[in-house]
Amino acid sequence: MKLQVLLVVALVALLVVDFGAAEKVHKKHRKGKRHRTSTTTEQPADAAVAAEAVVAAQAEQDVMTILAEDEKEEEKEARQEEDVRLNEVVTVDPCHDKYCGAGKVCQLSAAGEAECVCIPTCPVEVDPRRKVCSNHNETWGSDCEVYQMRCLCDQGSEMCRGEKYKHVHIEYYGVCRDMKDCSPEEMADFPRRMSDWLFNVMRDMADREELSPYFLKLEREAETNLTRRWTNAAIWKWCDLDGHPHDRSVSRHELFPIRAPLMALEHCIAPFLNKCDADDDHMISLKEWGKCLQLEEDDLEERCDEVRGEEE
Ligand SMILES: *[C@@H]1O[C@H](CO)[C@@H](O)[C@H](O)[C@H]1NC(C)=O
Ligand SMILES: *[C@@H]1O[C@H](CO)[C@@H](O)[C@H](O)[C@H]1NC(C)=O
Repeated sequence: MKLQVLLVVALVALLVVDFGAAEKVHKKHRKGKRHRTSTTTEQPADAAVAAEAVVAAQAEQDVMTILAEDEKEEEKEARQEEDVRLNEVVTVDPCHDKYCGAGKVCQLSAAGEAECVCIPTCPVEVDPRRKVCSNHNETWGSDCEVYQMRCLCDQGSEMCRGEKYKHVHIEYYGVCRDMKDCSPEEMADFPRRMSDWLFNVMRDMADREELSPYFLKLEREAETNLTRRWTNAAIWKWCDLDGHPHDRSVSRHELFPIRAPLMALEHCIAPFLNKCDADDDHMISLKEWGKCLQLEEDDLEERCDEVRGEEE
């Protein structure tokens, strides 16, 4: 609209002056300096024409200024629109970087805010190996189902099957089974087997380049120095387990990563780990861990301090 008006103004301005003058003005605008042709400069009667040319030049200049301003304005608006669009991308999915815990998913509230809700349906698991055994010795289809129920009970949903499910958790992976008792002989041999297993896991992780440089150093040492083999593996695992939170003790929930997957294979792991918490304060200190794995405690304490120093 504005553009059309301005074009009309420009056209009128061009019509006011004669074609030659207009051309000169045009040249002037283009090159920034006046090239007078002999036909106009040497004719004294052309003063009026020259004056008109100045007016025309001024008009053209104004048009250019206005158009330039409009152009700037349009670009600014376009940028703002783009910003709005960019903001929309962010606000379209506030769930994008929202972390919801196990058994929960992010969903937009009526106000458009990201909120965590209990997962409506868990993926259907056909693989029986995905089944888990809960602390109530009940087999569940998957870990998702356990966490979903826990969430429902936590939020007071009527789909909660009962008060006890408020604290339902995975006891171990696989279907619930009759756990054989761990015989005294098996228990006696367990620290050695456990240490050996820990070392093998550590070595595996080193091969897969999944160890931090510090733990890799410990692993190398364990490879070459047999007396350090088990202690280094024990230090690594203990420090590794003590991550939620980092408080220099391994609590019961922090034992989950070794307890839950191993229970189906190792009926001694649960009683063994219970035994590790010698003073029964629900925390396994490095000292208790070492003792339980029948390792020299002095080495352990010292080494983990180094780990702490470098890791933090
Ligand atoms: C747990 O469940 C399994 C399978 O139903 C059963 O064999 C076992 O005896 C139960 N264990 C306990 C401690 O009740
Ligand atoms: C192996 O480790 C032990 C215990 O830390 C240490 O006393 C010994 O010097 C080490 N041996 C070698 C060859 O590094």
